[in-house]
Amino acid sequence: MAVLLTGGAGFIGSHTAVEIINKGYDVVIADNLYNADASVIDRIEAITGKRPAFYQIDVADKDRVRAMFESEDIDAVIHFAGYKAVGESVEKPLDYYRNNIDTALTVLEVMKEYNCRKFIFSSSATVYGTSDKVPFVETAEELGCTNPYGWTKFMIEQILKDTAKAHPALSVVLLRYFNPIGAHESGMIGEKPNGIPNNLMPYITQTAAGIRAQLSVFGNDYPTHDGTGVRDYIHVVDLAKGHVAAYEYSLKNEGCEVFNLGTGIGYSVLDIVKAFEKANGVPVPYVIAERRAGDIATCYASTDKAAEKLGWKAEKSIEDMCRDAWNWEQGEWSK
Ligand code: UD1
Repeated sequence: MAVLLTGGAGFIGSHTAVEIINKGYDVVIADNLYNADASVIDRIEAITGKRPAFYQIDVADKDRVRAMFESEDIDAVIHFAGYKAVGESVEKPLDYYRNNIDTALTVLEVMKEYNCRKFIFSSSATVYGTSDKVPFVETAEELGCTNPYGWTKFMIEQILKDTAKAHPALSVVLLRYFNPIGAHESGMIGEKPNGIPNNLMPYITQTAAGIRAQLSVFGNDYPTHDGTGVRDYIHVVDLAKGHVAAYEYSLKNEGCEVFNLGTGIGYSVLDIVKAFEKANGVPVPYVIAERRAGDIATCYASTDKAAEKLGWKAEKSIEDMCRDAWNWEQGEWSK
C-alpha cells in the first residue's frame, strides 16, 4: 500500500516524500516536471535510502492516471500538483483554473473508480482572504480570495467538502499552509524558483548570494510592530511532517476536516532580514518600496486544532529556517 504524491517532485512534495518514507510508508510520485527536476527522485533516494516509484505524467491526463492506479496499490493521495504563482495567476486566470481544478477533479474521479478513499489537499492560508482577524482559525467566515491562484484553492476545498458529504466513507483532509520556507538540512532538496523570486525567503537568499542587488521591502506603513508585513513562516520539514500526521489521521477518520499548518508566530519582513543576517553572518541589503498589491498586514495561524487532532506541532525555529535556506542556496543542488 502506497501514498501517491501528485507534484511530489516539487518543493513541499519532495520534503513530504522524505518524511513519509522515513515513517516506513511506500511512496509513489506523479509529477510532469513542469516546475521540478527529475533528479529530485535520486535525491529523495539518497536521503532516505529508498527510491519512490516515479511516474512522469500530467495528472490531468486521466488515462495515464488510471494506468498508474492499475500498476500501483495506492491507499491515499496527497495532492500537491498545481500552478502556484500568484502574479502569474492574475495574468493567466484561465490557465490556473483549468490546470488546478482539472488535476484535482481527474485524480478524484480516478480514485473513485479504484475505491481509494483518502485525499489530503495542499491548500493555503490564502483562503482566509483579506481578513484581519488573526490568528486565523479554521472556522473563520469565508470571505473569498484576492487572486485566481487563491480562488483555485478555495474552489477545490469546496469540491472536496461537497464530495466528502456525498461519499461519507471518504476521508478528506484540507491543509492550509502558511508561509513555508527553509530546506532539507542535507542541502539536497529545497525551493528552486523560476526566474526572479516572488516570495520573500528565496529573494533574501538570492540577495545574500549577490544574484539580486537588494531586497525591496514592500511597505513599512502597515499597522505592525515595525510597519512591515507580518507572516507565519514555517520550516518546510515541519510542514512535511504535518502531512504525515494528516495521512495517519485519515487512516482513522472519515469525513472532511480542515487544519492550519503554521507555527502560530508572526514575524515581520525586517525580523526575517535580521534573523537571516544573524543566523548566517551575511548582509542582506534592502530598500523600502511601495506596498505590493493584494498584501495584507498580518497573517498567522491558530495552531490549536492541528495540535489537538493531528498531534502535530511545528518544532523548528526561525534560525533553523534561515540557516537551512542559506545552506540550500549555497550548495550545488540548488543550481
Ligand atoms: C504568497 C501568496 C500566497 C501563497 C504564498 C506561498 C499573496 C497575496 N499571497 O504569500 O497566496 O500561498 O505566497 O507561495 O501573494 N515581501 C517583500 N519583498 C519581497 C517579497 C515579499 O517585502 O521581495 C513581503 C511581502 O510583502 C509579505 C512577506 O514578505 O509581507 C511575505 O511575502 P511572500 O513570501 O510573497 O508570501 P505571502 O505574500 O505571504
